[in-house]
Formats: sequence, C-alpha cells, structure tokens
Amino acid sequence: MPGLFISFEGIDGSGKSTQARLLAETLRAKGEDVVLTREPGGSPGAEEIRALVLEGDPDRWSAETELLLFTAARRDHLERLIIPALAEGKIVITDRFADSSRIYQGTRSGDKRAQVDALHELMIGREPDLTFLIDMDPDLGHARAKGRGGTEERFEDFGAELQHKMRAGFLALAEDFSDRFRVVDGTRSIEAVARDVAQMAHCELKARR
Ligand code: ADP
Ligand code: TYD
Repeated sequence: MPGLFISFEGIDGSGKSTQARLLAETLRAKGEDVVLTREPGGSPGAEEIRALVLEGDPDRWSAETELLLFTAARRDHLERLIIPALAEGKIVITDRFADSSRIYQGTRSGDKRAQVDALHELMIGREPDLTFLIDMDPDLGHARAKGRGGTEERFEDFGAELQHKMRAGFLALAEDFSDRFRVVDGTRSIEAVARDVAQMAHCELKARR
C-alpha cells in the first residue's frame, strides 16, 4: 500500500495522544495528508464499541468477550478508515492498535496471548509500518492519566504491579517486532519527545520514498 501506517503505544498516561497529535501537526505542516485516529474507536461503529468497553462496571465483560469487542472495533476501524486512507496514499497515525490488545487482553487476566494472536491473525492480519512505544515509569503515567478525569475509567485502576508488568510487556514486544518499533523515553518534556518522534518518522518516510 502506498500510504504509511503509524501507531503509538504505551501504558496509560505515557503521552501517546499528545505525541500522536503533535506528529500529525508536524507532518501536515510539511504538506503530508494525515489521518489522525485512535483505538478503541476511530470509525463511527468502533466509537460505539468504545463506550461499551471503557465505561461502566469493571466486571461488565468477561475477558473473552472484551477481546472480541476490541477486535470487532479494530476490524471496523481497519475496514472503514485505515485501509481506504492508506490506499489513497495518506499517512494514518493511530493512538493504539493491536499491540495494545497483545498487552492488555493478552496479559491482564492470565496469559491469553495465544488467543489474542489467533484472533488477530484471523480478523485483522495487518501491522503498522512504524510503531512508537512511549516508554515511562508507570507511577508517573498513572499520576498523569488520573489528572485527566472523565468517565472512561474501567481500565484506569489496574494497580502498580500490573502497570509495571505491562510496561515490561511493551518493551518485550518492541524487541520481538524490532523492525517496526521505535522506543522513545517519555519522561522528558513534551517538546523533546516530539522532536525525536518527528525525526524518526521523517527517516522512515525518506527510506520509503
Ligand atoms: P496517553 O494518551 O498516553 O494516555 P496523554 O497524551 O493523554 O497520554 O497525556 C496524559 C497527560 O500527561 C496529559 O495531561 C498531558 O498533557 C500530559 N503529558 C503528556 N506528555 C507529557 C510530558 N512529556 N511531560 C509532562 N506531561 C505530559
Ligand atoms: P486510551 O483511550 O488510549 O487510554 P489512555 O489515553 O489512558 O492510554 O485507551 C483506553 C483503554 O483501553 C486503555 O486503558 C487501554 C485499553 N485498550 C485495551 O485494553 N485493548 C486495546 O486493544 C486497546 C486499543 C485499548
């Protein structure tokens, strides 16, 4: 496909949304056609599923049902927004994609990574071209995410131990998929992180064109 598919990953509060937005602004200023999106959500149907998975009682869904809902949302997002935009040569920047399911659904209640991978293979079958992992200490990320407020709190109280496990999980994924992953130290200023990200995105674009 002619476009470029970029994802941002990391634990809650690491600065993904901020950095995804800044990269979109930087690339647009250079004349690129950019679609900025997010998961869960990104298409009208997937945004409806977002409310189902992120709001309400933490026990609202079983782990299996939750994985199906995230995957259904991703499939709709891919079909309706991501694939058509890439086919038109656009740069798609998404705040989270399948790596989030590998970590959250794959590790949160026991080891479900094999199920997550099987469903991904069957229903999604597509990885980003480039993935920025915004890495940081979970205690700092938690304090940032808490400061935001809002109603999407089903996942906000994982506890420190699980957050540390997820951070380690993301770093391990970055090694497993080292071709597309770029690990960025998210504890620095917003501007310093954004500079690194923009430079790496620029290198990738240059290599591909
Ligand atoms: P995420 O999407 O990973 O949950 P956000 O981009 O929403 O993270 O950032 C969470 C909070 O932390 C926001 O209030 C944001 O303004 C702030 N923030 C983001 N990056 C930084 C940074 N590098 N330094 C300090 N605060 C930051
Ligand atoms: P998001 O809105 O990115 O939250 P934050 O900005 O706090 O990082 O994502 C909401 C939550 O959804 C987040 O806790 C991670 C979770 N999530 C999954 O569990 N699986 C997934 O596949 C995705 C995309 C998100």
